[in-house]
Amino acid sequence: MEKSIIDFFYLICIVLFIIGLKRLSSPDTAKKGNIIAGIGMGLAILVALFQPLEGGANNYLWIVGGLILGGVIGYIAAIRVKMTAMPEMVSLFNGLGGACSMLIATVEFYNLEPGTAMMSTEVLTIIFALFVGSIAFTGSIVAWGKLDGFLRDSLVLPAPQILNLVLLLTVIGLSAYIMYLPEINYTLVWILLIVSMVYGVTFVTPIGGGDMPVVISLLNSFTGIAAAGAGLIYGNQVMIVGGIIVGAAGTILTVLMCNAMNRSLFNVVIGGFGAAGQSSGSDREQVAKEISLSDTAIQLKYSNKVMIVPGYGLAVAQAQHTCHDLEKALEAEGVDVRYAIHPVAGRMPGHMNVLLAEADVPYPKLLELEEANEQMPSTDMVLVIGANDVVNPAAKEDQGSPIYGMPILDVELAKTVIVLKRSMRPGYAGIENPLFFGDKTKMLFGDAKDSLSKLKAEVANA
Ligand code: TAP
Repeated sequence: MEKSIIDFFYLICIVLFIIGLKRLSSPDTAKKGNIIAGIGMGLAILVALFQPLEGGANNYLWIVGGLILGGVIGYIAAIRVKMTAMPEMVSLFNGLGGACSMLIATVEFYNLEPGTAMMSTEVLTIIFALFVGSIAFTGSIVAWGKLDGFLRDSLVLPAPQILNLVLLLTVIGLSAYIMYLPEINYTLVWILLIVSMVYGVTFVTPIGGGDMPVVISLLNSFTGIAAAGAGLIYGNQVMIVGGIIVGAAGTILTVLMCNAMNRSLFNVVIGGFGAAGQSSGSDREQVAKEISLSDTAIQLKYSNKVMIVPGYGLAVAQAQHTCHDLEKALEAEGVDVRYAIHPVAGRMPGHMNVLLAEADVPYPKLLELEEANEQMPSTDMVLVIGANDVVNPAAKEDQGSPIYGMPILDVELAKTVIVLKRSMRPGYAGIENPLFFGDKTKMLFGDAKDSLSKLKAEVANA
């Protein structure tokens, strides 16, 4: 196929990526946006198959074999994955993207023309793609392990900051030496590859599980940058633009999440929020007050305004539809019901938005953190459903708390707070929540779905 025709089709792919990404910004259009971007990616693969290769024909058997294998694995994984395990899958797939760039860069060292100047932008680009791709690969695997729970935060490296600095300097030194030598030295390339992969592991290992969403989004931006680097190696525009889009989106998301937690990226990477062993417990013997289903139903029914705070437990219980049913039952009684959405509630960015959109909760009912907090004093009852860390006042009051400084939903400003959860167990950060012992708070123990469906029945019958 003519290069100009190929470039034209690549341009269409890029436009499809951008339209798809734009549509992902709202739950109403996100599904279509995903399909549009997917079509763009499919077209890009198809067009790449027709791109003539220098010095040889495309090996279609390998390509089609890889496409079928990857497509089948991806399809089965996407169908089977539970909504709550989505961050793990994102992390794993992100790691595979990094691995691709890493492998492409390694292979390209072997494809260098004899006599290629080592001190060139070409070699620098290959080294860059290899290094960044390696961090994205091994770092994402560690992040996946931490989210999945088979890698514990208690796994501590000796002097991690110093170790990381030494490894980073080694990578820089090795890269400079490889470029300084008159000819390619493959042994050094393999050492560079191994050190880069180790750096990915040591970079993520010291970071606490609670910070994994930020890390995954950061690694996602690394994968994008590595893919753009691989695109530069091949002079392939669609890879360059696609990589830059992923890199930019990942960076923006990282910044937004850091802002949502009121922490700098440096603090996330160096600090240890969510690491095991930290706790903001108090020495006082505290007693939480329980409330019955029927009392909760009556209080809900006689409220003017109810604010629902969904959290990870809502996703675990798969109670989003039941929650929407209760909301409709309350609205039928003339109660104004809103949802307060914390940016890091759940286990992935936008988790609560996706969950509630799945249950057809109208988007205007979802209030962002600041707006929800403004409305707390005029709220009669807050119903906290499977949320914990995002309503923990220790983030404001306890300077020793690992979540200190994270903006939270100020639910204690409402007249009453009822918390639906199964036990007094802590949330993701592993710390006690003083809210549960507050004067205005009552606990309704049980699985969220079960409690909500019983509440709905009580509200309808009371
Ligand atoms: P968490 O603090 O994790 O608390 C969830 C609570 O849900 C738990 O205390 C648990 O208590 C309860 N729960 C679990 N299953 C339940 C069920 N079937 N029915 C009723 N309750 C159930 O959740 P959160 O408030 O949403 O905060 C999110 C946390 O995860 C933050 O620390 C955040 O930094 C972190 N994180 C966020 C992300 C993103 S990007 N959203 C990603 C990874 C980590 P019981 O066991 O007693 O029921």
